[in-house]
Amino acid sequence: MLAVIAAFFMNKNLPIGVFDSGLGGLTIVKALQRALPKESLVYFGDTAHLPYGDKSPELVKGYSLEIARFLLSQPVKAIIIACNTASAVAYQTVQNFAGQIPVFDVIRPAVRELLSHTSNGNVGVIATKTTIHSGVYGRQLMAARADIRVTEKATPLLVPMIEEGWLHNRVSQDVIDAYMSDTGFRGIDALILGCTHYPLIKGQIEAYFRQNAQHNVHVVDSSEAVAGYVREALAQSSLLHEGNTAASHRYFLSDYTVHFQEAAKLFLNQEIVFEKKEL
Ligand code: DGL
Repeated sequence: MLAVIAAFFMNKNLPIGVFDSGLGGLTIVKALQRALPKESLVYFGDTAHLPYGDKSPELVKGYSLEIARFLLSQPVKAIIIACNTASAVAYQTVQNFAGQIPVFDVIRPAVRELLSHTSNGNVGVIATKTTIHSGVYGRQLMAARADIRVTEKATPLLVPMIEEGWLHNRVSQDVIDAYMSDTGFRGIDALILGCTHYPLIKGQIEAYFRQNAQHNVHVVDSSEAVAGYVREALAQSSLLHEGNTAASHRYFLSDYTVHFQEAAKLFLNQEIVFEKKEL
């Protein structure tokens, strides 16, 4: 009996595993640290294999499985697939592998938030090529609301642009304008930012619609939506951390260069000590 009680409490106080193709998933880490300050995190960025956004689903599934294996060996009490592309193509594979350990993707929370903010049912999604090609956002949105009209658009130039730190210059303005002026986005009242990197240009995208649309467009930042969703789900399964031990986080990368250190600052606004872990 004592062993069962001990296992129960140990589970709650294990860290949460979070993974992404690289550093963009740190936008989710940042939101998690705000929403769940007591939770320790083990982050894995697959910098040896990024970007995932234009890779085949089979390859992304294979990488995701290896990462899940590593995270479960830590061990962790839950896994968050912070990468939209991996969420789009590898969620079921990772959940099957993880068994009883809950796995969260970043798509469901964003879909839920979008549905609570659209009134005209005319919505948009921007993401990487592989995410858009998977059609997962459209499927989930239509399953929840049959009359919804979804425009899904791949916006592959945004990731390298953001990683370059080009958030507020002439080039970034032109790229954002060119993508957002897609005629499919005319009349939308809500838009999902379906990629780890896009929260960094949320303000610019909102500004585009403020200036060009006739009405308000609610822009869904999936990092905030995911943090809120995970907090609710952990509370429901009694998996929230208990006690007063301070959270401690570990950050692993499958490849390391100084460039990643700079990129981490961009996404998390913190100095991080990375550990290298080849898969
Ligand atoms: N993390 C990816 C995503 O959210 C973007 C970067 C990449 O293509 O690897 O889809």
